[in-house]
Amino acid sequence: MTQSPVDPTVLVSKLDLETKVRLLTGAAAFSLAPEESIGLGELNLSDGPTGVRGLKFSGGRQVALFPNATLLASAWDEDTTAEVGRMLAEEAMAQEIHVVLGPTINLHRSALGGRLFEAYSEDPLLTGKLAASYVRGLQSLAVGACLKHLVANESETARNTMNSVVDAKTLRELYLLPFEIATSESDPWSMMAAYNDVNGVAATEQDHVINEVVKGEWGYTGLVMSDWFATKTAAPAAAGGLDLVMPGPDGPWGQTLVDAVRAGELDESVVDEHLRRVLVLADRVGALGELREWPADLPAPDSPVRKEQLTRLAAAGMTVLTNDDALPLTRGTSVALIGRHALETIDMGGGSAQVNPPYQVSVAEGLTALLGDAVQVVDGVEVRTRPVAARPGFVLDPTTGNPGVHVTLLGADGTVLDDRHDAPPTTMVGFDDDFTEPVATVRFRARVAAEGPVEVGVIGVGAWDLRVGSSARSFELRSSGGFAEEMLAPPVEIGTVDVAGDDIIDGEVVLRPPASTEVVEGGTEIDATANPLAGVGLFGLVARPAPQPVDEVLAAAAAAAAQADVAVVVVGLTEEQETESVDKSTLALPGAQDALVSAVAAAARRTVVVVNAATPVLMPWLDEVDAVLWAGLPGQEGGHAVAAALLGDIEPAGRLVTTFPVADGAAPAWNVTPVDGDIEYTEGTFIGYRGHWAGTVPTPAFWLGHGLGYSTWEYTDASVSVGGPSPAVSVTVANTGERDSREVVQVYLEPSSSDEPVRLVGWATVSVPAGGSARVQVQTDARLWRAWDTESGEWSRIADGGRLLVARGLGDVRAGLPL
Ligand code: BGC
Repeated sequence: MTQSPVDPTVLVSKLDLETKVRLLTGAAAFSLAPEESIGLGELNLSDGPTGVRGLKFSGGRQVALFPNATLLASAWDEDTTAEVGRMLAEEAMAQEIHVVLGPTINLHRSALGGRLFEAYSEDPLLTGKLAASYVRGLQSLAVGACLKHLVANESETARNTMNSVVDAKTLRELYLLPFEIATSESDPWSMMAAYNDVNGVAATEQDHVINEVVKGEWGYTGLVMSDWFATKTAAPAAAGGLDLVMPGPDGPWGQTLVDAVRAGELDESVVDEHLRRVLVLADRVGALGELREWPADLPAPDSPVRKEQLTRLAAAGMTVLTNDDALPLTRGTSVALIGRHALETIDMGGGSAQVNPPYQVSVAEGLTALLGDAVQVVDGVEVRTRPVAARPGFVLDPTTGNPGVHVTLLGADGTVLDDRHDAPPTTMVGFDDDFTEPVATVRFRARVAAEGPVEVGVIGVGAWDLRVGSSARSFELRSSGGFAEEMLAPPVEIGTVDVAGDDIIDGEVVLRPPASTEVVEGGTEIDATANPLAGVGLFGLVARPAPQPVDEVLAAAAAAAAQADVAVVVVGLTEEQETESVDKSTLALPGAQDALVSAVAAAARRTVVVVNAATPVLMPWLDEVDAVLWAGLPGQEGGHAVAAALLGDIEPAGRLVTTFPVADGAAPAWNVTPVDGDIEYTEGTFIGYRGHWAGTVPTPAFWLGHGLGYSTWEYTDASVSVGGPSPAVSVTVANTGERDSREVVQVYLEPSSSDEPVRLVGWATVSVPAGGSARVQVQTDARLWRAWDTESGEWSRIADGGRLLVARGLGDVRAGLPL
């Protein structure tokens, strides 16, 4: 790419104040304005972190859906995240996107955090190193990364107003550390300031964090943008170091910031510096001077190369939690595959990380593809409280017979604005669609590929008429309130009808006009015009087999399990728990899934449980089953990846990236509901495994770093060498199993003082053939030997002494090396 011949500082000096300030707020939801007079082109951003959705929030083009961040991180492998970064850059370039809004590098403080699925780990070193390699991969193709969300943004409840109360030591040693590591090792071209306040100051106004620490101490050369709609003020945010307000074109800066400069409240040089950083970013991504040309020959989201990559990346991160010789499955055994997640595998979390993938392979499809008739698939218990859009395959386009729904969008005068096929029928109208006129009516047709009682219904605000065969229903759905609610929980209504097989659903919704005040549940009056989604929301069609009583489901599952050589039960969470904007209230599996596992385990010869969730769940049935495979949210190739992992075609060689508590509350940090607006990070630096090791809370079910793979390992001759900035550990690992395998050698520092928590200081991965051995060296990271001295405001080295622990997670320590 050609570098801009012009110095950004010189370009800034050519613009007047109004123009400069205008360029400091986005031009649209996901783009920055061009400015021809200085050769600045339009600059496009898109959400990541595990899929590049594009410029539309909803219903956009089809793009590859990657495994979620915790699953990718479970490989504990910088080459993996670098590959992911390069793949994301390709996905971005295919859409002419300059910056991908990821990685998310907040830490897993409380397991209740709704958005942990987007972030790598509870550990700052693992998070920082993986983020750095992801950024290097992405930026090697001149697509910018965006570290988010700066900082102390670990939960979602009241996320726009909550105040994280974090002492300086904890902030430095834990929550800022991944940002520090990624900054020094990969020079990310942007960062995103979070919604929350930190110690009473908005994250978007954090002079201390942004100006003093990030841009000052770390010498950060990139740009800091706000999270979407997060900026609360003009001059204080600009003075606090925020460079760019997102989204736009409206926002709190504009004329208010111009006036603040004119009134002498803010020096114009501050505005200039922000714009200089915008231009540096534009230059780096090819949007300044000679604009970049985009490659044309990039892999399609459903291309063979993507299928191979996405299957391999997902399967390699899957983690064997327990295994009493039940895994891998042997070909030739008969399998009862049970559970709603087997049929409707959850491949991504909810919120801004969602993408529109070309397809999603369920575990039922993946395992049947490998084992054919040897697999009997049995649906499980209900796992959601809210209905979701019909699964393509259950409904078919009546004209073409393709899975999905035929949709026609009409303007107020009946003009056809769009006539298309939707699979799945989740977003017939998106709030950011750009038709020439507003959509007034949606008509849709689908054939139900089933017989018997079927639940049908509708999702979204409006007056609905639905005919199914000979029965007809009408629904009037109203707005549930604000933006996030409407996005994440649009109104929905369902009813049960009997279909005779191949019945057609004919539907029409007339959208409610947005210009009205309405009274929502609880008697609150809302101004519907203030809600950008009112009357133009997301429209889905619900159609699925009517739910069966739980005892009948359990009986059918147990009967199938008793007939098979092995029962594989797939359980998990859904986007109701793992989503942006909402936290969990428990780690228990939703619905009667625990009862389902127990019923199957009681009837089956062997029981394997697959956990389809990104974050910890409780497993009260652990002693009743023979193996547990944690499968994360595995992306569009999820079903193929789970099948490959179950059969050992790809070793599920993952190690946990977060500690699994043994019960609700049995963790060092738990509460995610602000008290008087505050979340106090009182556990300090003792989150996750660090707090469990200190003994303040019960021993966890599984430690960070735990994972069995498909082999066994012997560790010998561990030794420490000092000298250099930090010690290194050497150890010989022997693969004592019968399969070639991959080991993750982890080194933890247990400091001499109990005021300092145990911590991961380094790791190395090694692949060793069955019966072979390897000498592995782990260089510990000097940054983990520091302690922040709050009084002097400086780093010091932690006290001498203590031990280095060589471990496979702290539940399986193989050597203790005194220091
Ligand atoms: C999220 C960000 C995201 C942004 C744009 C916000 O709600 O917190 O992570 O990048 O929306 O979609």
